[in-house]
Amino acid sequence: MKRRIGILTSGGDCPGLNAAIRGVAKAAYQMFDAEIVGIKDGYGGLIDGEWREMKQSDFSGILTLGGTILGTSRQPFRNMRVIGEDNVDKVSAMKKNYKAMKLDCLITLGGNGTHKTSNMLSEEGLNVIGLPKTIDNDLFGTDFTFGFHTAVDIATDVIDRIHTTACSHGRCMVIELMGNKAGWLTLYAGLAGGADVILLPEIPYDVDRVLSIVEDRAKENKAFSIIAVAEGAMSKEEAKMKRKDRDLQRQQEGFTSISARLANDLQQKVGVEARTVIPGHLQRGGTPSAYDRVLATQFGVHAAELIRDGVYGVSVAISGNAITHNALKDIAGVPKLVPPDHQMVQLARAMGLHFGVKR
Ligand code: F6P
Repeated sequence: MKRRIGILTSGGDCPGLNAAIRGVAKAAYQMFDAEIVGIKDGYGGLIDGEWREMKQSDFSGILTLGGTILGTSRQPFRNMRVIGEDNVDKVSAMKKNYKAMKLDCLITLGGNGTHKTSNMLSEEGLNVIGLPKTIDNDLFGTDFTFGFHTAVDIATDVIDRIHTTACSHGRCMVIELMGNKAGWLTLYAGLAGGADVILLPEIPYDVDRVLSIVEDRAKENKAFSIIAVAEGAMSKEEAKMKRKDRDLQRQQEGFTSISARLANDLQQKVGVEARTVIPGHLQRGGTPSAYDRVLATQFGVHAAELIRDGVYGVSVAISGNAITHNALKDIAGVPKLVPPDHQMVQLARAMGLHFGVKR
């Protein structure tokens, strides 16, 4: 059986993309007569017709490599059907190039936005299989995305290192972690790193409550406090505003981040010495953890099995330790957020951690 497979990586990168590409390729070469075409820079390359024939040797030595050998780009789903100044009909171009490459199927590695476009292309008649990646872990239908656990390890290391200096100086350290809409990374790293306060986009916080937690800790002779805050966290007041108004208000008040705003409040209102740390894209860089190498490989191999069996229009997933798949139409565009009563939140509360709201 011969199959010609196109692979692309789209959206923000994360550790494990190369391990997943390698998983698809190595398993496909074993299972059938596979030809693999690497599409450059995500959907951008599919639109512009930039691809190259891959050789088996291209997939050797990349298991531990961070980033993506194919390159990636952000191509917002909302613009996919919009004809811009370049006059390119992106959907027609992608279909035309799929045909020009003579593909039997297209493998897309990406997050929520990528999956929306994958689903659209599947509805347009292309054979598509999605692989869920993102450090945000916010894809519906899978317990975990690859990239997430590596980011948790990195963010936990940051919190650990900050703990020692916070303790030496008796400071309040506000550590801002990635996660605009979903707080999974902050929740897991906050727990693993022993943060005192965890602030998530899904649980708008009460500023006075956060301030009083830090104040109370100081009174109890706990000289330092660690706050792990997701970049998309917001106060209860801010939660009532539209995102662009919220960003504008913060800007007008002179804050470029949520951590800066919190640190300022803590210094001004509680009088503690506060500092901010934003590890930013460090959380997406470098070699994948062992867990993510295994998960990405499992996802890749399952994708090859699906190609062998002619199953398309799906996204690979892990559910209760089993590797499985979901119909793209059922999961595309459905964000997986932290439920405020999630068992990890309850567990953290049972440990005395705070989420910036009254229990
Ligand atoms: O979706 C992954 C993510 O890392 C988010 O956590 C973060 O908000 C965003 O990407 C940052 O995107 P960019 O790399 O485009 O700045």
